[in-house]
Amino acid sequence: MKQQTTLVHAGRHPEAHSGAVNPPVYHVSTVTYPTVAAMKSGEKHPFDGMRYGRFGTPTSFAFEEAVCAVEGGYRSIATASGLAAITGTLMALLKSGDHLLMVDTVYYPTRRFCTEQLRRYGIETTFYDPSIGAGIASLMRPETRLVFVEAPGSLTFEMQDVPAIAAAAHAGGAVVAMDNTWATPLFFKPFDKGVDISIQAATKFIVGHSDAMLGVITCATEALWNTVKSSVAAAGVCAGADEVYLGLRGLRSLGARLRQHQESGLALARWLQARPEVARVMHPALPDDPGHALWLRDFDGACGLFGLELRPFPEVAVERFLDGLAHFALGYSWGGFESLIIPTTGHVVRSATRWQATGPTLRIHTGLEDPEDLIADLAAGFERLGKTQ
Ligand SMILES: Cc1ncc(COP(=O)(O)O)c(C=O)c1O
Repeated sequence: MKQQTTLVHAGRHPEAHSGAVNPPVYHVSTVTYPTVAAMKSGEKHPFDGMRYGRFGTPTSFAFEEAVCAVEGGYRSIATASGLAAITGTLMALLKSGDHLLMVDTVYYPTRRFCTEQLRRYGIETTFYDPSIGAGIASLMRPETRLVFVEAPGSLTFEMQDVPAIAAAAHAGGAVVAMDNTWATPLFFKPFDKGVDISIQAATKFIVGHSDAMLGVITCATEALWNTVKSSVAAAGVCAGADEVYLGLRGLRSLGARLRQHQESGLALARWLQARPEVARVMHPALPDDPGHALWLRDFDGACGLFGLELRPFPEVAVERFLDGLAHFALGYSWGGFESLIIPTTGHVVRSATRWQATGPTLRIHTGLEDPEDLIADLAAGFERLGKTQ
């Protein structure tokens, strides 16, 4: 089956739901049993079938089944948010005395969880240069249990050589987890590239409509799934009933939306590259991007999220540019149908590497509007930017 067909059909069981195309939303906490024997038999398989709302419902099982079919892993785990999927994975695999290798370009709340929370539990994090590749072998220690990758980074869009990092991590006995939200499993296949655990902030492209918080973890093997599922369940993390439904619904149109995000995003990125106000565009699908060769080798596409650095302009001029935009809203997210823009100056936090920009930096999420309207909106913004007062 081709990927697009899997997206449409995976996890759907109309025969189990009176023929309904989509599974119903099970709003449930309590599950009742007809007999004591039935109650006891449920305990033998705690994570299969309905036992209690927190452990899963037919709606969440359908979502997990569908995501797993697209990811190509062993089994998935729905969580309350993307960040919960990340922290749930870290807590499941690490214990006191362990060492974690974390990419320096990681999503900031992931960084903060390592430095503020994992540290309290005696887990040490070393941040590494995203361009390290096979060189990560030199950072591996006997107690390194987990290597975390995220490519490209969601502010500066630096790429990583995931297969080389995964090979070195496995040689040292570590597990590899990846935040693959930017590419989604459609545009990057983590399990073909050596990743053991693939994480999606489903809040972004899977839900796709900016109306739900949702995460999902997919494990390559049964053993990893058992470890992560047990830990996530023990922590009480579960996804809401309506949220998993919205995730499932979003998944059906993910392919069509993502292709449009890609096409419009590239149209904007190329147009921006030619503007005199722009110093550089950070988008790995552009041929002159430093990460382009890796993107070309490992990825099947790009979403519409990318960065840009302006030539030096005063802050007030950048505010004029941003405040007057008609189609780009100012908002800290991405992956929805609507275009977003944020100033990223001062948001880049590094400890293992340095990142420099002389001019103000911005991040654009290209939504599903007509790209001509988006370009006209940016062009009018540049007029405001260039005005002397
Ligand atoms: C790269 C990346 N990973 C994870 C997350 C966290 O997802 P959520 O907001 O669903 O917790 C985000 C959110 O912005 C993100 O940008």
